[in-house]
Amino acid sequence: MNPFYLVIPAAGIGLRSGRTGPKQFETVGGHSLLTLTLSRFLGHPALAGVMVALAPNQSPPDDFPVDPRIRLCVGGDTRALSVLKACQALPAPADAWVLVHDAARPFVTHDDIDALLDSLADDRAVYLVGAVADTLRTHDGETLARERIHRVLTPQGARLGTLIRALGLPVTGTDEVSYLQAAGVPCVAVESVGHNLKITHPGDWALADALARQPGF
Ligand code: CTP
Ligand code: MG
Repeated sequence: MNPFYLVIPAAGIGLRSGRTGPKQFETVGGHSLLTLTLSRFLGHPALAGVMVALAPNQSPPDDFPVDPRIRLCVGGDTRALSVLKACQALPAPADAWVLVHDAARPFVTHDDIDALLDSLADDRAVYLVGAVADTLRTHDGETLARERIHRVLTPQGARLGTLIRALGLPVTGTDEVSYLQAAGVPCVAVESVGHNLKITHPGDWALADALARQPGF
């Protein structure tokens, strides 16, 4: 398996989470969310290096792993800018494979990571998606065919140089694929076999805590 690098944007403020501080420093299942998320990747044999983007003047959590592969940088005002700055700070060649993964998604599975890595090829991008369970209806009453829609998750990956070029484009988006598509990069969706919960709203904390305390997690 080819070596890969990991970028974790962790410079957000968690406005929707219902907590007073940034959510990535909150405790879930006895560990900080950021550490929990990082730990999903650190045991992967192909992981070559990690760049974590933190807000200015933000220290890592007390339980942050000690690992020579991990480096820190300062993020930006948007998620995209945090990812761009982390990519620019990553000591890796332009053709290195990079997975970008939200600090707020501690339940990504090893199978999903491997499925993404297996799909990386040439100069294309890959991203994890999940099926939609609910009926989807717009505010003005149109019901959407859920078979035509998927939830877009992270990790999302591409070559380092491709990511830097795409994230510098004058478009806006809440994920890497929005930028990569604008750059004309073919983006391949990989179906997730896990739930990959992103802790976003106040109701997510109790569920995340219960999941993180499961034996074998
Ligand atoms: N993120 C970042 N830099 C920003 C904004 C977000 O690195 N300027 C990171 C968050 O820390 C998080 C990931 O991007 O790990 C996904 O973003 P989201 O879940 O939206 O987190 P927040 O932006 O912190 O939350 P909210 O949108 O509720 O304020
Ligand atoms: Mg946000």
